[in-house]
Amino acid sequence: CRSLAIESELTLAIVKPDGISGNYSSSIRNIILQSGFTIQTQATLHLDEHTVTTFYAEHSTKTFFPSLIKYITSGPVLIMVLEKVNAIADWRTLIGPTDARKAKITHPDSIRAMCGEDLERNCVHGSDSRESAAREISFFFPHLLSGGTTLKHDEL
Ligand code: PPS
Repeated sequence: CRSLAIESELTLAIVKPDGISGNYSSSIRNIILQSGFTIQTQATLHLDEHTVTTFYAEHSTKTFFPSLIKYITSGPVLIMVLEKVNAIADWRTLIGPTDARKAKITHPDSIRAMCGEDLERNCVHGSDSRESAAREISFFFPHLLSGGTTLKHDEL
């Protein structure tokens, strides 16, 4: 009997206010589960300006920042920690390009093509790297991470 180490990864997914108000949460959840992710934890929150400004701090100098903050605080969001081998890249592939208008043309099967509208109202968020995933997960769920975003499972 040999032991094979499989590295399972965590990533942060957010269903943004347009996804919630358009009633896409359960479709998105079904896509997540059918794609082999498990949902480690989730929370529905109406984020305030301070929290969102901190979360998106890396974009604070961009011209779109005030508009992004207004949009993300406009209604509740569903925040989920997803787990799977290669979760970060696979979730980014599933959601499609940032600009939902482009996604509808180039990635019609993506989640953003299904429920997003444009570059701002793009329905969902996904961590874009291991560093972002670690920062974003510990931002909302500080108890979850002790040693980064990688969980090791042994398969016999
Ligand atoms: S950048 O500039 O390349 O770092 O930005 P990008 O990674 O494409 O997007 C970062 C998040 O900002 C949102 N975004 C916008 N909001 C409003 N208006 C405009 N023009 C705009 N451009 C980008 C975008 O939806 C990304 O949100 P998240 O939640 O990270 O997907």
